[in-house]
Amino acid sequence: MKVYITREIPESGVSMLRDAGHEVIVSSKNDVLTHDELVSEIAKHNPDALLSLLNDTVDRAVFDAGKNLKICANYAVGFNNISLDIARARNVVITNTPDVLTDAVAEHTIALILAVARRIVESDMYTRQGKYTGWGPMLFLGTELKGKKLGLLGAGRIGSRVAEIARNGFGMEVCYYDVKENPLLEKSTGAKFCPSPDTVLSESDVVSVHVPLLPSTQHMINADHLKMMKKTAYLINTARGPIIDEKALVEALKNGVIRGAALDVFEREPALEDGLSELPNVVITPHTASASETARRAMAEVAAKNIIAVLSGKAPLNPVQ
Ligand code: GLV
Ligand code: GLV
Repeated sequence: MKVYITREIPESGVSMLRDAGHEVIVSSKNDVLTHDELVSEIAKHNPDALLSLLNDTVDRAVFDAGKNLKICANYAVGFNNISLDIARARNVVITNTPDVLTDAVAEHTIALILAVARRIVESDMYTRQGKYTGWGPMLFLGTELKGKKLGLLGAGRIGSRVAEIARNGFGMEVCYYDVKENPLLEKSTGAKFCPSPDTVLSESDVVSVHVPLLPSTQHMINADHLKMMKKTAYLINTARGPIIDEKALVEALKNGVIRGAALDVFEREPALEDGLSELPNVVITPHTASASETARRAMAEVAAKNIIAVLSGKAPLNPVQ
């Protein structure tokens, strides 16, 4: 059967699909397809399976064009880019790639926490620019993590792994908000459950966001929430940009409402909110938290396995609904 992949991904996933006897078409654009291009590619090739990226909007127009679609395997753990209700109505299975990117994203989250708390990027620029003229007792003072409180908004796989590293590696205390309690996390890290996100925001020294993007989590952190945080606190986001009101965050960072932020995701990717990149107390990376070679290869293989299963009439391994 025919599989359409919207952009080059690690070869191991593509080979698995070919070895299973499928015809694989990879978009030749080597850039994100515009929505019009995606729709016309799907209409032209009429694939049985679509392997989509997190920046492909898979909506009604795509499902209308893809009359033969049986599965859309999203190359991501998040799936807010796909219209699930339309997929359900058309009997198209939607899958994601959980688990295999948990360590990569958690490690990147820790890298961002350290980078912003120890002012690594600012210090690097200063040193490269030749401004380092001698050791100083007050030069680039930052925040030590030991004994500080990490607050998680969302304690699924990724949030839990971040908590374990923070607790076992740095001796941080952990508190978390989630729609449900996580007894395993409490056992492994001594994490304290907070029934409201407000408690996490007001008590924590580092707040890290790990909820999925849903209508209920859009702007879950707005100007009022930022004001609840400690003036000395840091906000980290490796989940999805629209969970934070980015304009409000820029204001808060400018005005010292919080001390700093580190972001891998943005509200209107790839655009950045005006002023964000000029702030010294921000560390930004281009949505690369899952970008380890191991994770990206495994994501390609998981997406391929889901497609192979569904196209051979079997149940998907990672259905999202
Ligand atoms: C990355 O952002 C993912 O959802 O996999
Ligand atoms: C993603 O894997 C999560 O549940 O945090």
